[in-house]
Amino acid sequence: MARILILGGYGFTGRLLARHLLEQSEAQITLAGRHLENAQAYAEQLNTEFKGERVSARRADAASRQSLHEALDAVDLLLVAAPTTQHADTVIRAALESDVDYLDIQLDAQKLALLKSLAPDIARAGRCFITEAGFHPGLPAAMVHYAARRLDRLDTAVIAGYLNMGRALPYSDAVDELMEVFRNYQAQFFRNREWTRPGQYEVREVGFGGEIGVRKCYSMFFEELRALPQMYPTLQELGFFMSGSHWLVDWIITPLVLGGLKLAPRRGIRPLGKLMWWGMQTFSRPPYRVLLKVEARGENNGKPVKIEITISHSDAYELTAIPVVACLLQYLDGSACRPGLWMMGHLVEPVRLFRDMEQMGVRISQLS
Ligand SMILES: NC(=O)c1ccc[n+]([C@@H]2O[C@H](COP(=O)([O-])OP(=O)(O)OC[C@H]3O[C@@H](n4cnc5c(N)ncnc54)[C@H](OP(=O)(O)O)[C@@H]3O)[C@@H](O)[C@H]2O)c1
Repeated sequence: MARILILGGYGFTGRLLARHLLEQSEAQITLAGRHLENAQAYAEQLNTEFKGERVSARRADAASRQSLHEALDAVDLLLVAAPTTQHADTVIRAALESDVDYLDIQLDAQKLALLKSLAPDIARAGRCFITEAGFHPGLPAAMVHYAARRLDRLDTAVIAGYLNMGRALPYSDAVDELMEVFRNYQAQFFRNREWTRPGQYEVREVGFGGEIGVRKCYSMFFEELRALPQMYPTLQELGFFMSGSHWLVDWIITPLVLGGLKLAPRRGIRPLGKLMWWGMQTFSRPPYRVLLKVEARGENNGKPVKIEITISHSDAYELTAIPVVACLLQYLDGSACRPGLWMMGHLVEPVRLFRDMEQMGVRISQLS
């Protein structure tokens, strides 16, 4: 039975990861974080709901190598679901030194650079490290692979996201991490078989259908997209576009935040994060939903084809946890457990991933 330690196992995403893992697998779960009493309380709750006393609790601090080493004794996989990118070096090295596999759901350029620099060590140690897992990052590349499976030839793949989480969410360290992403914001997309400059962004109107309708969307780059043109040499256009929210957030608060982060890249994170979060919470209007859509064009049997695949959920944390657990099902049965460093979007078998996600409650629709 695999033994999985979830760092942040009682946070917004961690709680759902634990629950879905208990439902979908036979794994033994350890919930870890800096407050043992919080981990114990949730472990007790899960053990009353799920048979077999499969959940335990541990104190672990991402800032402390010693505490991570102790927590990772007798563990097979470290699942990082805590907003701890500032401690990525400590966490990643602790996983390698403890000889455990690793999966993170974080979006962070420095963490990714560190993992890439350690990739030869990871492979030599025979460990499987999976990074950039979740909804975004995680699903954009998987959606392109999924679309490509349904076409003889893939010419264009444009992914668009609608993210409207509602109004009642408290500020957390994860928002600070979002500000780090804003600070390093990259907007390039692939057009006419070439990547545009990182700072060059494009605005497009995207139709999401239903109550959401047509929205203005802004290009946003994810590292997982970079390898796709080599994987599909017929690709001429590829990109990710994120929908805007209220005009005040798009045209006043976001430029203020981006400018502020340039002037005060460190000290500005918390106050500007609070301003951004306040704007997103105060001006958000229904429908409260998260949705990703890929529109792909290509050819089947010599004829031009267009397909659209949409995945959505009413809860953004569910849409983060479910793909991770669907990926872990492939890791746990060995089909996605290979030595080396992998991005979730490229490691998984996409057809099974989407089937398993649907079974766990994600709404998936396809048009062609
Ligand atoms: N890939 C995606 O699609 C996606 C989507 C959403 C979020 N995310 C990322 O997922 C991560 C978690 O987000 P979230 O909103 O679920 O976070 P969250 O609810 O704020 O996470 C809190 C959890 O992390 C623990 N934690 C915080 N600091 C810690 C430390 N130094 N050492 C150990 N545990 C610590 C907390 O416990 P204690 O405070 O008791 O230590 C708690 O269990 C973030 O990195 C976020 O950016 C990714």
